[in-house]
Amino acid sequence: MTSIGRMIMLEELFKEYIPLLDNELESIIAPKKMYQERLYESMKYSLFSGGKRLRPMLFLMSYTLFSNNLKIALPFAASIEMIHTYSLIHDDLPSMDNDDYRRGKLTSHKMFGESLAILTGDALFNLAYETILKLTMEINDYRVRRAGYEISKAAGYSGMILGQVIDTCEDELNSSEIMYMYSLKTAELIRASISTGAILGGANNEQILILDEFGKYLGISYQIQDDILDLDKDKEINKLTLSKYHSKDQLINLINESNEKCLNLLSQLDNLNTSFFEELVNKLAYRNI
Ligand code: IPE
Ligand code: IPE
Ligand code: MG
Repeated sequence: MTSIGRMIMLEELFKEYIPLLDNELESIIAPKKMYQERLYESMKYSLFSGGKRLRPMLFLMSYTLFSNNLKIALPFAASIEMIHTYSLIHDDLPSMDNDDYRRGKLTSHKMFGESLAILTGDALFNLAYETILKLTMEINDYRVRRAGYEISKAAGYSGMILGQVIDTCEDELNSSEIMYMYSLKTAELIRASISTGAILGGANNEQILILDEFGKYLGISYQIQDDILDLDKDKEINKLTLSKYHSKDQLINLINESNEKCLNLLSQLDNLNTSFFEELVNKLAYRNI
């Protein structure tokens, strides 16, 4: 059963898709060679430690606006979650944010040691692209190749990794530079999860452009909301965030403005049932995890 052809509430959609996604992840990472167990355990630890699965769900929500065929969509969605998970493992390392806990559990390097944590990130990153490239061999379709290219671009040198470099290496950033950094380190993967869902599902170019724009604003709202949730923690470690330049109320206003743009963009998608995206925009504005 998919979202097509009926009104569906967001919670119901998550309940339906997350077990499918989890099965897909399990089968992709299942060990096949000697000495893989240690790496398997650490990959599994980070993949199954209570992540919200936002990006693969955004991908699936976008995809199912246009297609019912989850067989192609699930490995792609799993790849997006693997990219996200690798980015968090590396983000938490002592040389990066030096965090001991994520999602209330020990971070990968605290649990398995730094070298295995680095390698776990590497393995997840590589496995994501292995999975996508396998899809391009199995399905000879321009849309699969385009979606793969778009996600790799968003995660890489001009996207998420560039954002992480700015975050890690630049000490002095003004408010608009911080916003630029957010648009890369967080919004790029969120944007591309949505646009690649549309591409793979078979959306036309106009629909892809609208959803792409929607993803940019959603990603910005998401990161500012993250800043609000981490206000105390970030102050303690002196982390540079938008809160250096804006009060909490101003940050909430920025989120509201960005969400308004999201809803306007959705209203331009004639004849598509975007109610779960609308629900998500409203929910994320008040998220507390
Ligand atoms: C955390 O993302 C990092 C950001 C870019 C804000 P999420 O809050 O989506 O991470 P999990 O996977 O649900 O823990
Ligand atoms: C993490 O950003 C962004 C990526 C991993 C790409 P943050 O450092 O702000 O997020 P948290 O607070 O560790 O989840
Ligand atoms: Mg961090």
